[in-house]
Amino acid sequence: MKNSFVIQGLAGKKELTGEIQVGGAKNAVLKMLAASLLFEDTVTLSNVPGISDVEKMNNLLTDLGATIEKNGEQLSITTADCHTTIVNTTIAQSMRASVVLIGPMLGRFGKVTFPHPGGDVIGARPIDLFINAFEKMGATIAHNEDVYEITTINGLHGADIFLDIRSVGVTETVMLGAVLAEGTTVIRNAATEPEIEDVAKYLVSCGAKITGAGTSTIEIEGGSLLKANGKVYDTIPDRIETGSFMILGALASKKLTITNCRAENVRALISLFEKAGVSMDVKEDNITIYGGDTYKAVNVRTDTYPGFATDLQAPMTVFLTQAEGESTVFETLFEGRLHYTDDLAKMGADITMYDPHRVMIRGPKSLVGRELEGPDIRAGLAFVFAAILAEGESVINNIDHIDRGYENIEERLTSIGVTIKRV
Ligand code: EPU
Repeated sequence: MKNSFVIQGLAGKKELTGEIQVGGAKNAVLKMLAASLLFEDTVTLSNVPGISDVEKMNNLLTDLGATIEKNGEQLSITTADCHTTIVNTTIAQSMRASVVLIGPMLGRFGKVTFPHPGGDVIGARPIDLFINAFEKMGATIAHNEDVYEITTINGLHGADIFLDIRSVGVTETVMLGAVLAEGTTVIRNAATEPEIEDVAKYLVSCGAKITGAGTSTIEIEGGSLLKANGKVYDTIPDRIETGSFMILGALASKKLTITNCRAENVRALISLFEKAGVSMDVKEDNITIYGGDTYKAVNVRTDTYPGFATDLQAPMTVFLTQAEGESTVFETLFEGRLHYTDDLAKMGADITMYDPHRVMIRGPKSLVGRELEGPDIRAGLAFVFAAILAEGESVINNIDHIDRGYENIEERLTSIGVTIKRV
């Protein structure tokens, strides 16, 4: 039996108040877990969010032979005994981030077998760029219906790789693979997300030779297994949670302070909020939002970092249902990531879909509670926000999607005044 959230809406009243703390970044910690395969000793990660995607990645690593010890929000991973080169099909098919394992596995074992990775249904999500990059690094790829088998003769070698798309996953996977490759790898048109820079910084502190992570050209000089020597990786705050809570603050609070965040990583949202007329007090590691009576319509275009994050697109669309005038949302990264807007329309939002990448929203419109199916992690949270805003009760089903990325979300929301129950 799957869990649901039952939420009593505030009917547009701005009643939430208090502080809400941001957890460690899911999309940094998942990559650090994969990177633990590059180490000869134990790697300890702190500020690890208690979310189901982390559990899945842990299960994938244990299946490969790793030992993982949990101590509160810390995880210690030892991969010294990993020898298997086959990634567990069932788990990998439920999580896109599993594909990042192929980098460190190829670097370390010269071989990997894995299924097409799963994850949210937010578009085609092909893996052609991973394949192209590893072919350039000397790998041979065989593919049958179910699995890909990538092999090398004597391990990966360095290469000059230009990414046709600034893919986050490809940048990280190739960067991790190159740490144990022979020679120098250059990744051009690399993704510049802060999680990439942060993971690289830690790897460098443990002996990796990586320069330029966080910029569009990354250079990696291959070497031998890394040594943590007891150094702890402290996961950076999740910028998607940060931005989501800012949006919730604008929608439903008198005054909401988001703590343990990094304001520099949500500049695109801060800039749009300034245009929309949201009152904010932005400090380096905490942001206070004062809910206002009216907001102005703004146009949103998702982009790679530092542009507006696609993972904030769904909650931002909920915000725009309350802004005065016509706003457009242009989702440039994924073609299947606007379908949830049908459900917002059923709650009373005025949304027109032009094509799979673009919607127009006319606001402000009052929303009415209803039963919804959470379609993916980010749209799932957007539905929670819409339910908080709406009049009456909403039931959100399929919340295992939400549990993939947000730790104890109902407890944190309850503490700021939301009436939410898990049933
Ligand atoms: N792409 C290809 N070929 C490839 C790889 C990617 O065409 O071989 C395309 C994708 O289909 C997409 C575009 O490149 O259209 C960008 O995708 P990217 O590879 O950058 O995304 P990702 O690495 O799969 C990560 C996050 C996503 C986030 C995107 C964009 C993780 C685990 N996932 O995905 O996060 O939306 O970057 O920022 O880091 C989420 O957390 O909810 C989530 C979906």
